[in-house]
Amino acid sequence: MEPSNNKQLNTNKLFIVAGLILLGFGMIYGLTGAFQYLVPGFLKKYFSFEKIRPLHVSAVVFWIILGAMGSVLFYLQQYTQKKLHTPWLTKVQLLVFLFTILAILTSYCFGMFGGREYWEFPPLLALPILFGWLLFLYNVINTIGSIRNQPVYVWMWLTGAVFFLFTFLESYLWIFPYFRNNIVNDMTVQWKSYGSMVGAWNMLIYGSSFFLMEKISGDKTYSTSRMGFLLYFIGLFNLMFNWGHHIYTLPTYHFIQYVSYVVSMTELLILGRIIYEWRASVSTARRHFHHAAYKFILAADVWVFLTLLLAIGMSVPALNIYTHGTFITVAHTMGATIGINTFLLLAIAFDILHETCLTFEPNTKLFNRTYFVINASLFAFWISLIAVGVMQSKWQMSEPRILFGSMMVELKPFFISFFIFGLILTIGILIIIYPLIKNQLLCYYTKSKSKKTT
Ligand code: HEM
Repeated sequence: MEPSNNKQLNTNKLFIVAGLILLGFGMIYGLTGAFQYLVPGFLKKYFSFEKIRPLHVSAVVFWIILGAMGSVLFYLQQYTQKKLHTPWLTKVQLLVFLFTILAILTSYCFGMFGGREYWEFPPLLALPILFGWLLFLYNVINTIGSIRNQPVYVWMWLTGAVFFLFTFLESYLWIFPYFRNNIVNDMTVQWKSYGSMVGAWNMLIYGSSFFLMEKISGDKTYSTSRMGFLLYFIGLFNLMFNWGHHIYTLPTYHFIQYVSYVVSMTELLILGRIIYEWRASVSTARRHFHHAAYKFILAADVWVFLTLLLAIGMSVPALNIYTHGTFITVAHTMGATIGINTFLLLAIAFDILHETCLTFEPNTKLFNRTYFVINASLFAFWISLIAVGVMQSKWQMSEPRILFGSMMVELKPFFISFFIFGLILTIGILIIIYPLIKNQLLCYYTKSKSKKTT
């Protein structure tokens, strides 16, 4: 049996440690990109915006993917109270992912692209990712064994793991001329696959968050509750159909778009409600014991509602025409990937990594202060992005046309605040994750050293 929260650094924890390191690098790339909006041409020779953007996006997307896989693998063992079906496969899986991510980031540095937005690396590198995911899926399915009487988080893990594979394959259909040669079909399939892929990793993250919420509250009823399964089914429907809102500007059936958007909203609303109600059920002692994890779940809840508000605004077709392709979309994506995905994964990371041979206690005061700074700066960062987006949409529709250069001058104050709050946010997150990574590695090295000397 795998003891709960054992203090050793194992492969499952390494997924999360590697993810946190990628998050750190990803934010630094993001900052460089934001600075390039202020000083066009900054580092152009070696790290132009064309390279920095994919470096940033891929690093943070792989943080989410590694974090999601690590948390499922770790919690699966806590849930089943036994080891994974084939533990050594996770080592191969981790190595495959790490080498591929390194190859992807290096290919960007050398200006080697060839893929599509969000997966801009040469398509051949998709093969090892596919292989690594198959190993993950194999272990998840075989460790779970039977699907009878399973709690909602197990369903979420299974569904997320299967659908990610499906949508990942779908996102590469463009390599076949049949799909590539018709622009509307091509873009529809492309955006459908991206929307569903986000739905798939959300399943993995929400499932692990459910498990963690149960662990914190000690109340086992959530995972079998009606509300939990309602979230699961809405999430599943959403995963299959939420892509409608990505193709507002394409000539397809409108009812698909409207249905999908209503469903996306419902999913967020239910998730928000579940966390809100869960909060009240956690006793003060348990809140204190799981301090950092508890706080990040609460922060994610606030971001669920903020994302929902922005999404409702963006989904009005008359407004979507203006917001499409502006920084409002970036605000929506970054708000959700930082405020919901990253905060939930940080809650999970604290639960899984905080127990080492060194206590996290001396860092608690700094954590509390930084936690406040992270939330405040993320909000200001998000508002700056929305402000840029509003100005861009006004510019797009301006009559007579205003020069692009004049608009960029007007946008400068907002780009400055985007950069400054992005910097504060990056420093804040680095301060918070540093002791987590440091304690893990320090304990690992002292342990292996003491093993050698005995
Ligand atoms: C947890 C941290 C972060 C995550 C998960 C994240 C995620 C993302 C994602 C998914 C995009 C693509 C948006 C889209 O295409 O709609 C993006 C774009 C971008 N992000 Fe971040 N981001 C993070 C932090 C930051 C920080 C701290 C900065 C620095 C100010 C930053 C600057 C940028 C820039 C400049 C872009 C490109 C915008 C454009 O397309 O022109 N990000 N980010």
